[in-house]
Amino acid sequence: MARIVGGVTTSHIPAIGNAMDQGLEQTPYWKRFFDGYEPVKDWLAEVDPDIAIVVYNDHGLNFFLDKAPTFAIGCADEYRNADEGWALPTLQTFEGDAEFSWHLAESLIEQEFDMTTCQEMLVDHGFIVPMALMWRHLQDWPVKAIPLAVNTVQHPIPTARRCYKLGQALGKAIESYPEDLKVVIFGTGGLSHQLQGERAGIIDVDYDLDCIRSVIDDPDWLADQSTAEIIEKAGTEGVEVIMWLVMRGALHPKVNVIHKHYHVPISNTGAGVLVLENAA
Ligand code: DHB
Ligand code: FE
Repeated sequence: MARIVGGVTTSHIPAIGNAMDQGLEQTPYWKRFFDGYEPVKDWLAEVDPDIAIVVYNDHGLNFFLDKAPTFAIGCADEYRNADEGWALPTLQTFEGDAEFSWHLAESLIEQEFDMTTCQEMLVDHGFIVPMALMWRHLQDWPVKAIPLAVNTVQHPIPTARRCYKLGQALGKAIESYPEDLKVVIFGTGGLSHQLQGERAGIIDVDYDLDCIRSVIDDPDWLADQSTAEIIEKAGTEGVEVIMWLVMRGALHPKVNVIHKHYHVPISNTGAGVLVLENAA
């Protein structure tokens, strides 16, 4: 049966992609941030997953404001990235697993999450920055990948509670797949940031740290908050943190923290990293 080896949270800020592209990892601005990923890379090398389910939001590349599915899943055997405006490079094609994707879609829809199924899907910085952060040091992507897109852009967006429940359903969907696959789940985005409007540039370190604590051992704290409450604290784009709850919902109620890191600011954002495993 497929098995969840753990979950990772990470910001997906496009400037990280540019920094990697330009080899700036060891410069004073970036060093501490990238150092926070070394334990994640070590952990991934150790657990050696076959597949990564990347929970991210499309930022106007594959979907736009005219059509914004609440939850969408890639059901293709390959995915390519394209630049939606941040001048990020085209990376090596990502191999998918359409058969597993269709299983997940079927199971999620049976569990009353009406996913949009995408047999073609362009992936943006929300997906590629996390993938590159984990595995750019290797020649080829060492895992297949499945994009799972959550609308955090065009309101009304799903609630934090709904995302947590989606994660719980995703966990069941994964664990009901008969093939022996090791699956890692990435919850991307956040933490606090707002890119436009009067409050552009806000970051709330205390709220970010509370979100990290909540995702570790009290997911209900975040799941109980309304979209407006999260935006008030974390900013209009900081609401991306609801995608961390998708990852968290797929894990067991009790988890072990393998790694935790927070660095602020990167670009306009509080950047948080977690590696969680199910407790025995
Ligand atoms: C930034 C953060 C994001 O999550 C994003 O999608 C785009 C930009 C930033 O901090 O610059
Ligand atoms: Fe984003």
